[in-house]
Amino acid sequence: MSGSVESAHDDVSKLPLERIDVAQPGLFQAGVVGRYFERLRREAPVHYCADGLFGSYWSVTRHGDIEAIELDPQTFSSDHFNGGITITSHPDEPQFRPSFIAMDPPRHTEQRKAVAPAFSPERVAQMSGQLRQWTVEVLDALPIGEDFNWVDRVSVELTARTLALLLGFPQPRSRDLIRWSEAAVALPGSPAFPTMADKLRVMQECFATFDMIWHERLSAPAGQDLIYMLASNPETRGMSPAELQGNIVLLIVGGNDTTRNSISGSVLAFDQFPQERRKLDANPALLVNLTPEVLRWQTPIAHMRRTAMRNVSLGGADIAKGDKVVLWYLSGNRDEEVFEQSERFVLDRPNARRHLAFGAGIHRCIGARLADLQLRILWEEIMKRFPRIEVVQPPARSFSTFIHGYTELMVRIPERS
Ligand code: HEM
Repeated sequence: MSGSVESAHDDVSKLPLERIDVAQPGLFQAGVVGRYFERLRREAPVHYCADGLFGSYWSVTRHGDIEAIELDPQTFSSDHFNGGITITSHPDEPQFRPSFIAMDPPRHTEQRKAVAPAFSPERVAQMSGQLRQWTVEVLDALPIGEDFNWVDRVSVELTARTLALLLGFPQPRSRDLIRWSEAAVALPGSPAFPTMADKLRVMQECFATFDMIWHERLSAPAGQDLIYMLASNPETRGMSPAELQGNIVLLIVGGNDTTRNSISGSVLAFDQFPQERRKLDANPALLVNLTPEVLRWQTPIAHMRRTAMRNVSLGGADIAKGDKVVLWYLSGNRDEEVFEQSERFVLDRPNARRHLAFGAGIHRCIGARLADLQLRILWEEIMKRFPRIEVVQPPARSFSTFIHGYTELMVRIPERS
């Protein structure tokens, strides 16, 4: 950790550019990181931080530059052994397990192909009846006229059930998936997992459980879930235990920290921009644009990281082979050159689909179709029941530079329609 960069409390407009370190969880938790990105996009769109909290790295903040990097995986590697996909990842980290998001072709291609059928249009459509039933159940159980935490009652509950369905995991234990996912992404020193040993202990529970499920699927292949798909595909059934564990973590983190925050973010967005709710009530066909605009505005995954495989120039900066390059989706989705009045949530924004919240190129989110369906079903059912959901306190935000989300969103539903 360095004392030479800015702290969460400095005024960004007064800081010398070279002292800016956007990758500080405190800036995200305080909800002020957007001001830093705004300045970087304007003055140093490919910005070097020499001595940040997580070492030296480049910040890529403009939409076009992020997209260009995503579309050039030969120059910008995702492979864990080159550096991995987050600003904190490192080839030697003790909790590391290989997974296909942190691989380059050809291994990435083979493993992604093995799980792709679980996200096909047909399979996702088959899940929709169950997702709607759970959504109705969860919404109908909400209190009217009382304050409650939307994150726990709705976002986490629906996400947990969906993930269990996807993984063929027992529904009564679905909250275990959330606990394991939280352990997997916890930064060292976080309140729930103060030490690496605490984190690894919880992860071990996860690995032991999935090891059992894996052996069940190998001996009696049946089902349509992700574990079955990995166990029955010739490319993946011989995976090492470490690779299986890595892919399990990828799937539970991929499906948890993302959807739950887009669900909470959608409620916050409509609360801050009530005219957009009126637009939706007047024209429900706008639901098709809801997911893209919520994701653009909220952006549940703040960044992905790549490592440069050769010297390369980008946006006027000279990136050296081996450098850490951080793609800030959160910033690209606010790029004023692409999105007019980018701070505003505008349901009928004509180019909302250009958002980068799912990434782009060969690693583009494999769960995108499911994430869209979940959010659309939720809002179809909300519109039938609740004319308003009021946010009664500023949200509590996650202490992370990777997950851009909320730990608490206190709301009140004044009445049912
Ligand atoms: C990849 C975001 C939902 C599973 C990704 C990436 C992002 C992302 C940013 C990396 C893209 C890149 O590197 O270019 C999101 C968001 C979601 C969401 C914002 C919801 C709002 C889901 C769900 C699942 C999932 C429901 C299901 C388990 C994955 C997997 C990958 C991935 C497995 C790795 C793909 C690859 O490397 O080829 N997601 N995701 N995601 N996501 Fe999602």
